[in-house]
Amino acid sequence: MSLLILGIESSCDETGVALVRVPDTAPGAAALPVPQLLAHALHSQIDMHQAYGGVVPELASRDHIRRVLPLTTQVLADAGEPLSAVDVVAYTRGPGLAGALLVGAGVACALGAALDVPVLGVHHLEGHLLSPFLSADPPEFPFVALLVSGGHTQLMRVDGVGRYAILGETIDDAAGEAFDKSAKLLGLGYPGGPALSRLAEQGDVAAFKLPRPLLHSGNLDFSFAGLKTAVLTQAQRLGDALEARKADLAASTEAAIVEVLVKKTLAALDATGLRRVVVAGGVGANRRLREQLNAACQQRRVRVHYPELHLCTDNGAMIALAAAMRLQAGQQQAGRDYAFDVKPR
Ligand code: KG4
Ligand code: ZN
Repeated sequence: MSLLILGIESSCDETGVALVRVPDTAPGAAALPVPQLLAHALHSQIDMHQAYGGVVPELASRDHIRRVLPLTTQVLADAGEPLSAVDVVAYTRGPGLAGALLVGAGVACALGAALDVPVLGVHHLEGHLLSPFLSADPPEFPFVALLVSGGHTQLMRVDGVGRYAILGETIDDAAGEAFDKSAKLLGLGYPGGPALSRLAEQGDVAAFKLPRPLLHSGNLDFSFAGLKTAVLTQAQRLGDALEARKADLAASTEAAIVEVLVKKTLAALDATGLRRVVVAGGVGANRRLREQLNAACQQRRVRVHYPELHLCTDNGAMIALAAAMRLQAGQQQAGRDYAFDVKPR
C-alpha cells in the first residue's frame, strides 16, 4: 500500500508544508521508486524580518504558529486528500531556531496523536541534500554533495540514504552567510544573497581583487570570514565612490565565493573518484555557481544535479521527501512517541 507523508518545515524564516506519496515497490524491482510530490505550500517571512536586517526568532515562531495550519489545509486541498489519509507526519527536528522548530514539531506531533499515526523528526540538512530527488532528473547514488545554505557549507560523499561522510566544511562562515554579510555591507538588505547576485550581473568580476580563502589549502575545508572583511575594507576605501562601484564589488565578491565552491567541488571529485555532483541548499540557486560548475563538470564529463529552483531554499517538500526516503530504505521507523524533541544545533 502506498504511503502518504505530510512534511512540515519551520526551522527558520519559511513555513513549509508538503504532501508526498511513497509508491509501492514493485516486486523484484531493482531500485526503490522515487517518492512523488503531490502538493506543497510555502510562506516566507522575509518581508516581516526585512525591517530588522535579519531574522527575529520570536517573530519567526509566532508567524509559524499563524501559518502552519492554514498551509496544511491548503496542501491537502491542492492534493485532493483528506487529513485522515495522512499515514505519517514528518517535521524538521533541527538544526534551526529552537522556538521556530518547536512550532513545527508541536503541530506535527499533535496531528500525529490526533490521527493516531506515527511521526518522524528529520534533519534539515538531509532534506536539502535529498531535495534533487524531486527534480525531473533525479540523481543516482553515489555522489559528491555540495551543501551550501545560510548556515552550512559542506562537501559530502553520499553513498545512499543515511550514508553520508563529510569530506570538508567551513571553519567559520557559511557560503550563504558570506553572501548575506557582504550584501549587508553594500546596503542590499536581508537576505542579501539573491540581491547581491542580481546586482553582480551588471558588474565586472575582475574589478576588485578579493581573497579566495583556503583555495590552495590542500584539503576540502572552506573559510569565508576573511572575504567579508576584505569586502568591508574595499567598501571603506571607496567611501563616496562606493555607490558607483557597487555592482563591480558585488560581482567580484560573488566570483570569489563561486570560484572557491567550484574548485573545492572539483577537488572532492578527484579525491573520491566519483563522477556525479549534487548541489543543494539556498546558495544552489545562484546563477553564477550553476554556470561555472556546469561548465567545469561538462568538461570532465561529470553529471551535476540541482533541486528545482523553487526547492533550493527551505521548504516542506524536502522534509516529507527525506522522511519518505528514510522509511523506504528501512533506515528509520516512524514512531508514536509524541513527546517531541528538537535539536537546534
Ligand atoms: O537553504 P536556505 O534557504 O536556508 C538555510 O538552511 O540556511 O539558504 C538560505 C541562504 C541565504 O544565505 C541566502 O542569501 C542564500 O541562501 N541564497 C543565495 C541565493 N538564493 C538564496 N545566495 C546566492 N545567490 C542566490 N541566488
Ligand atoms: Zn535550509
